Amino acid sequence: MRGKKKQGKLIAITGPMFAGKTSKMIQLLDREKYSGNSVRLFKPKIDNRYSKTSVVTHKGEKLPAMTVTVDANGIDAIIKNSADCDVVGIDEAQFWPPELNLANTLNDFANSGKTVYVSILNKDHTGKPFNNTLEVLALADSIHSLTSICLKCGEDATFTQRISKGKEIFGSQIQVGGTESYEPRCRKCFVAKSRSAKGR
Ligand code: TMP
Ligand code: MG
Ligand code: ZN
Repeated sequence: MRGKKKQGKLIAITGPMFAGKTSKMIQLLDREKYSGNSVRLFKPKIDNRYSKTSVVTHKGEKLPAMTVTVDANGIDAIIKNSADCDVVGIDEAQFWPPELNLANTLNDFANSGKTVYVSILNKDHTGKPFNNTLEVLALADSIHSLTSICLKCGEDATFTQRISKGKEIFGSQIQVGGTESYEPRCRKCFVAKSRSAKGR
């Protein structure tokens, strides 16, 4: 035993879109609240699909969240507003550019005794690790690796395909969207950019 200081933890929730990452985050943060811990949830300003003041799942579950920008000011806001809470949640962490080292900030939180839950998309629509995913997953103490269901064949899906009018499309890494522009796919049904005749 090394004193009474609470042990911090970094817990990642990852997977493709429509795998229930945000539902899992809400469920885990609710448990923390029930056990008497103070919780603060942050979400990136870039994603305003459903609400500016809450994190909302594709199924409509929600939890109040503070919206922060995906720049250095956003990281500062996370640090400042986490000072007095036991548990920190970060939704959609893939949107932070790698050079801002969000992963290190979260690692520091865990070292200081906080429990940190971070939800992060595993891969972008080209099948490559999304931004700071590798760092976050490497620094995590534990990982909830979630799968969705492939829309083509019904197998477990670990990829997210970007689609337009039923066709696979490729473009800039960041493009906020939901079922109108993305679908979960398994490794076999996922179309990589190089194999697509009409890759854009
Ligand atoms: P979700 O993981 O909560 O479903 O949200 C993922 C968000 O990431 C959604 O707004 C779409 C966006 N996204 C990109 O910007 N680029 C990509 O390559 C993929 C797959 C998703
Ligand atoms: Mg989500
Ligand atoms: Zn499939």
